[in-house]
Amino acid sequence: MKILVTGGAGFIGSNFCYFMRKANPDWDIVCLDLLTYAGNLLTLKGLEGDPHFSFVKGDIADKDFIFKLFENEKFDCVINFAAETHVDRSVDFPEDFVRSNIFGTFVLLEACRHFGGIRFHQVSTDEVYGDLPLDRPDLLFTESNPIKPSSPYSASKASADMLVLSYYRTYGLPVTISRCSNNYGPYQFPEKLIPLMIKMATEDKPLPVYGNGQNVRDWLYVDDHCSAIDLIIKKGKIGNVYNVGGNNEKTNLYIVKTILKALGKGEDLISFVKDRPGHDLRYAIDASKIRQLGWVPEFPFEKGIEKTIRWNIDNKEWLRAVETGEYLNYLQDHYGKR
Ligand code: NAD
Ligand code: TYD
Repeated sequence: MKILVTGGAGFIGSNFCYFMRKANPDWDIVCLDLLTYAGNLLTLKGLEGDPHFSFVKGDIADKDFIFKLFENEKFDCVINFAAETHVDRSVDFPEDFVRSNIFGTFVLLEACRHFGGIRFHQVSTDEVYGDLPLDRPDLLFTESNPIKPSSPYSASKASADMLVLSYYRTYGLPVTISRCSNNYGPYQFPEKLIPLMIKMATEDKPLPVYGNGQNVRDWLYVDDHCSAIDLIIKKGKIGNVYNVGGNNEKTNLYIVKTILKALGKGEDLISFVKDRPGHDLRYAIDASKIRQLGWVPEFPFEKGIEKTIRWNIDNKEWLRAVETGEYLNYLQDHYGKR
């Protein structure tokens, strides 16, 4: 089995490459990434020299490049993680999101259609459903909820989902989609809530909490997302969508206070700042469909957050590199000749 993992130098894609090398040691992985600010090869250092793993730098929205790659590599399966992913950036620069998330997905689907016989899995997000009210804890997103995205990011992901499903209906492409809640864990770029707050707290800087900090997210440790995708690739019903979530609803303020406590820092570091425009109130997932497939998340929040804080403390070099652009030198030294 030869799989293409797009966006594999980013947070979840890289964790997925590590996960899959252990879960399916005979499979070959080709990891494709544009290495935007969010992706870097230091993250994949642990797979250097692995004969079942190779890295290609490239853009999923570049049709000529993608078609050549598919022609040369003859993939059995494509798992599409590649995307612009930060809601705040999508508010300021929506164009990149339309290009990579919508057009990029379209190009991959076209390549699968053209070369034929390729299984396609789209890594999507619960954010396509919009948000839920804070005062209705009984409401959860199910796969049949209407799509109602709020931000340019979630709208671009929703558009991609619609394209994926249309390629199933129209061309019979063997597709599946997973819509996961917020992930956390190693290698997450320190622009997202959890790694950003760990970084600020360790540096004794103010922790910027949007609005009143009462927005709710359903947090899942990244390895549990990886195991869900592995299962869907193997056992998922073609043409189906699977919600993935860990029933770990927490307010942002709870997350921030948990991090401060774990690091022995005072709550006086919390700084309430101007809210994000269009800020979704609450995400919550009904994951019963994938649980029926046999998926069981392994990491309770308390264990996952402890591992994540520890990882961020132990990997200062990685953090410094992604923050300063130093990783570009690494790229030149170790992969320049590829
Ligand atoms: P990330 O921003 O850490 O990584 C994205 C990767 O995609 C980066 O390495 C980047 O260089 C690459 N990329 C961007 N545009 C590209 C292009 N045009 N061609 C090739 N590569 C490109 O994001 P992440 O958090 O790892 O998210 C991965 C996927 O999972 C995304 O599709 C996202 O929508 C989805 N998702 C994320 C979460 C979450 O909590 N982070 C939750 C659910 C779903
Ligand atoms: P984020 O990690 O950007 O993920 P998403 O917006 O995709 O859920 O943000 C998680 C939550 O944390 C969200 O409600 C916004 C909030 N947040 C802050 O309060 N301060 C911050 O500096 C960031 C980055 C996020």
